[in-house]
Amino acid sequence: MSVRRPAAEVLQPKSFSFNEKNLLVVDTILSKYPKEKKASALLPLLDLAQRQNANWISTAAMKVISEILSLPLIKVLEVATFYTMFNLKPVGKNLLQVCTTTPCWLRGSDDIVSACKKKLGIDFGETTQDNKFTLLEVECLGACSNAPMVQINDYFYEDLNEDSMIKIIEDIQKGSKPKPGPQSKRTGSEPHNNRVKV
Ligand code: FES
Repeated sequence: MSVRRPAAEVLQPKSFSFNEKNLLVVDTILSKYPKEKKASALLPLLDLAQRQNANWISTAAMKVISEILSLPLIKVLEVATFYTMFNLKPVGKNLLQVCTTTPCWLRGSDDIVSACKKKLGIDFGETTQDNKFTLLEVECLGACSNAPMVQINDYFYEDLNEDSMIKIIEDIQKGSKPKPGPQSKRTGSEPHNNRVKV
Protein backbone atom coordinates (compact mmCIF):
# COMPACT_ATOMS: atom_id res chain seq x y z
CA MET A 1 0.00 0.00 0.00
CA SER A 2 1.29 3.42 -0.81
CA VAL A 3 0.22 7.00 -0.78
CA ARG A 4 0.67 9.36 -3.69
CA ARG A 5 1.47 12.87 -2.61
CA PRO A 6 1.27 15.29 -5.51
CA ALA A 7 2.41 18.80 -4.64
CA ALA A 8 -1.12 20.18 -4.85
CA GLU A 9 -2.19 17.96 -1.96
CA VAL A 10 0.61 18.93 0.38
CA LEU A 11 -0.71 20.31 3.62
CA GLN A 12 1.53 23.24 4.34
CA PRO A 13 2.18 23.95 8.02
CA LYS A 14 1.19 27.50 9.01
CA SER A 15 4.49 28.30 10.66
CA PHE A 16 8.12 27.34 10.96
CA SER A 17 10.87 28.42 13.27
CA PHE A 18 14.39 27.19 13.71
CA ASN A 19 14.78 25.42 17.03
CA GLU A 20 17.09 26.78 19.71
CA LYS A 21 20.05 24.66 18.64
CA ASN A 22 19.64 25.52 14.98
CA LEU A 23 19.30 29.23 15.71
CA LEU A 24 22.91 29.03 16.90
CA VAL A 25 23.79 27.17 13.68
CA VAL A 26 22.07 29.95 11.69
CA ASP A 27 24.31 32.50 13.43
CA THR A 28 27.40 30.42 12.66
CA ILE A 29 26.40 30.10 9.00
CA LEU A 30 25.72 33.83 8.68
CA SER A 31 29.07 34.67 10.31
CA LYS A 32 30.83 33.03 7.35
CA TYR A 33 29.65 35.67 4.90
CA PRO A 34 30.05 39.47 4.75
CA LYS A 35 26.84 41.12 5.96
CA GLU A 36 26.08 42.60 2.55
CA LYS A 37 26.49 39.14 0.98
CA LYS A 38 24.37 37.20 3.44
CA ALA A 39 22.19 35.92 0.57
CA SER A 40 25.06 33.47 -0.01
CA ALA A 41 23.86 31.63 3.11
CA LEU A 42 20.70 30.56 1.28
CA LEU A 43 21.78 27.01 0.42
CA PRO A 44 23.06 26.09 3.91
CA LEU A 45 19.94 27.59 5.51
CA LEU A 46 17.65 25.62 3.21
CA ASP A 47 19.62 22.49 4.07
CA LEU A 48 19.37 23.24 7.79
CA ALA A 49 15.61 23.83 7.57
CA GLN A 50 15.12 20.61 5.64
CA ARG A 51 17.11 18.58 8.20
CA GLN A 52 15.06 20.06 11.04
CA ASN A 53 11.77 19.44 9.26
CA ALA A 54 11.83 15.67 8.56
CA ASN A 55 13.66 16.13 5.26
CA TRP A 56 11.37 18.59 3.50
CA ILE A 57 11.03 22.36 3.25
CA SER A 58 7.67 24.00 3.76
CA THR A 59 6.62 27.36 2.37
CA ALA A 60 6.63 28.68 5.95
CA ALA A 61 10.29 27.65 6.31
CA MET A 62 11.13 29.44 3.06
CA LYS A 63 9.42 32.58 4.39
CA VAL A 64 11.51 32.46 7.56
CA ILE A 65 14.68 32.08 5.51
CA SER A 66 13.68 34.93 3.19
CA GLU A 67 13.26 37.16 6.26
CA ILE A 68 16.61 36.13 7.76
CA LEU A 69 18.38 36.86 4.48
CA SER A 70 16.28 39.90 3.52
CA LEU A 71 15.42 38.22 0.23
CA PRO A 72 12.10 38.16 -1.64
CA LEU A 73 10.37 34.83 -1.08
CA ILE A 74 10.44 34.16 -4.83
CA LYS A 75 14.27 34.16 -4.77
CA VAL A 76 14.25 31.49 -2.07
CA LEU A 77 11.67 29.50 -4.02
CA GLU A 78 13.73 29.77 -7.21
CA VAL A 79 16.74 28.20 -5.53
CA ALA A 80 14.76 25.58 -3.61
CA THR A 81 13.03 24.44 -6.79
CA PHE A 82 16.26 24.41 -8.85
CA TYR A 83 18.18 21.96 -6.67
CA THR A 84 16.59 18.53 -6.61
CA MET A 85 18.09 17.71 -3.21
CA PHE A 86 15.51 20.00 -1.64
CA ASN A 87 12.17 18.29 -1.08
CA LEU A 88 9.20 20.59 -1.29
CA LYS A 89 6.74 18.00 -0.05
CA PRO A 90 6.93 15.43 2.74
CA VAL A 91 9.04 12.34 2.12
CA GLY A 92 9.51 9.11 4.02
CA LYS A 93 12.14 8.70 6.72
CA ASN A 94 14.40 7.07 4.13
CA LEU A 95 14.57 8.85 0.80
CA LEU A 96 15.70 6.20 -1.65
CA GLN A 97 16.98 7.71 -4.89
CA VAL A 98 17.79 5.24 -7.64
CA CYS A 99 20.15 6.39 -10.38
CA THR A 100 19.03 5.16 -13.80
CA THR A 101 21.37 7.18 -16.02
CA THR A 102 23.34 5.32 -18.72
CA PRO A 103 26.34 3.91 -16.72
CA CYS A 104 24.02 2.67 -13.94
CA TRP A 105 21.53 1.41 -16.51
CA LEU A 106 24.26 -0.52 -18.38
CA ARG A 107 25.32 -2.07 -15.06
CA GLY A 108 21.82 -3.23 -14.10
CA SER A 109 19.81 -0.36 -12.63
CA ASP A 110 16.64 -1.92 -14.09
CA ASP A 111 17.11 -4.79 -11.61
CA ILE A 112 17.65 -2.34 -8.76
CA VAL A 113 14.51 -0.44 -9.70
CA SER A 114 12.38 -3.55 -9.83
CA ALA A 115 13.85 -4.87 -6.54
CA CYS A 116 12.96 -1.58 -4.80
CA LYS A 117 9.46 -1.41 -6.28
CA LYS A 118 8.74 -5.05 -5.46
CA LYS A 119 10.16 -4.97 -1.93
CA LEU A 120 8.52 -1.67 -0.98
CA GLY A 121 5.30 -2.08 -2.95
CA ILE A 122 5.51 1.46 -4.29
CA ASP A 123 6.31 3.21 -7.56
CA PHE A 124 8.57 6.19 -8.19
CA GLY A 125 7.28 9.30 -6.44
CA GLU A 126 5.42 7.32 -3.80
CA THR A 127 5.85 6.83 -0.06
CA THR A 128 5.15 3.65 1.88
CA GLN A 129 2.19 3.79 4.20
CA ASP A 130 4.41 3.44 7.28
CA ASN A 131 6.21 6.55 6.03
CA LYS A 132 9.55 4.76 6.15
CA PHE A 133 10.49 4.98 2.45
CA THR A 134 10.02 7.32 -0.48
CA LEU A 135 11.25 6.07 -3.85
CA LEU A 136 12.62 8.43 -6.50
CA GLU A 137 14.30 8.00 -9.87
CA VAL A 138 17.24 10.35 -10.30
CA GLU A 139 19.88 11.29 -12.85
CA CYS A 140 23.60 10.57 -12.40
CA LEU A 141 24.76 11.04 -8.82
CA GLY A 142 28.42 11.06 -9.77
CA ALA A 143 29.32 7.57 -8.59
CA CYS A 144 29.31 5.94 -12.05
CA SER A 145 32.49 3.95 -11.37
CA ASN A 146 30.53 2.06 -8.71
CA ALA A 147 27.36 1.63 -10.75
CA PRO A 148 24.64 0.70 -10.17
CA MET A 149 24.03 2.76 -7.09
CA VAL A 150 21.37 4.40 -4.96
CA GLN A 151 21.43 7.24 -2.49
CA ILE A 152 19.56 6.77 0.79
CA ASN A 153 19.37 10.02 2.71
CA ASP A 154 23.00 11.20 2.96
CA TYR A 155 24.66 7.94 1.96
CA PHE A 156 25.62 6.18 -1.28
CA TYR A 157 25.18 2.42 -1.68
CA GLU A 158 27.17 1.18 -4.63
CA ASP A 159 28.09 -1.91 -6.71
CA LEU A 160 24.54 -3.12 -6.11
CA ASN A 161 22.70 -6.12 -7.40
CA GLU A 162 19.14 -7.25 -6.74
CA ASP A 163 20.11 -9.27 -3.64
CA SER A 164 22.20 -6.57 -2.01
CA MET A 165 19.50 -3.97 -2.70
CA ILE A 166 16.84 -6.11 -1.04
CA LYS A 167 19.16 -6.78 1.92
CA ILE A 168 19.74 -3.05 2.40
CA ILE A 169 16.00 -2.39 2.45
CA GLU A 170 15.41 -5.26 4.86
CA ASP A 171 18.14 -4.03 7.19
CA ILE A 172 16.59 -0.58 7.29
CA GLN A 173 13.16 -2.09 7.88
CA LYS A 174 14.62 -3.96 10.86
CA GLY A 175 15.97 -0.71 12.25
CA SER A 176 19.65 -1.21 11.50
CA LYS A 177 21.81 0.99 9.31
CA PRO A 178 23.47 -0.91 6.47
CA LYS A 179 27.07 0.01 5.76
CA PRO A 180 27.24 2.57 2.96
CA GLY A 181 29.69 2.34 0.06
CA PRO A 182 30.41 -0.55 -2.31
CA GLN A 183 28.36 -3.67 -1.59
CA SER A 184 30.88 -5.76 -3.54
CA LYS A 185 34.35 -6.78 -2.37
CA ARG A 186 35.67 -3.42 -3.46
CA THR A 187 36.46 -0.83 -0.81
CA GLY A 188 36.40 2.08 -3.26
CA SER A 189 36.37 2.37 -7.03
CA GLU A 190 39.50 0.33 -7.67
CA PRO A 191 39.39 -2.25 -10.52
CA HIS A 192 37.24 -5.26 -9.64
CA ASN A 193 40.23 -7.62 -9.94
CA ASN A 194 42.43 -5.39 -7.86
CA ARG A 195 45.29 -3.53 -9.49
CA VAL A 196 46.01 -3.96 -13.17
CA LYS A 197 49.69 -4.78 -13.80
CA VAL A 198 51.45 -2.20 -15.95
S1 FES B 1 25.20 7.06 -13.91
FE1 FES B 1 24.61 6.41 -11.94
S2 FES B 1 26.00 7.47 -10.68
FE2 FES B 1 26.53 8.15 -12.67
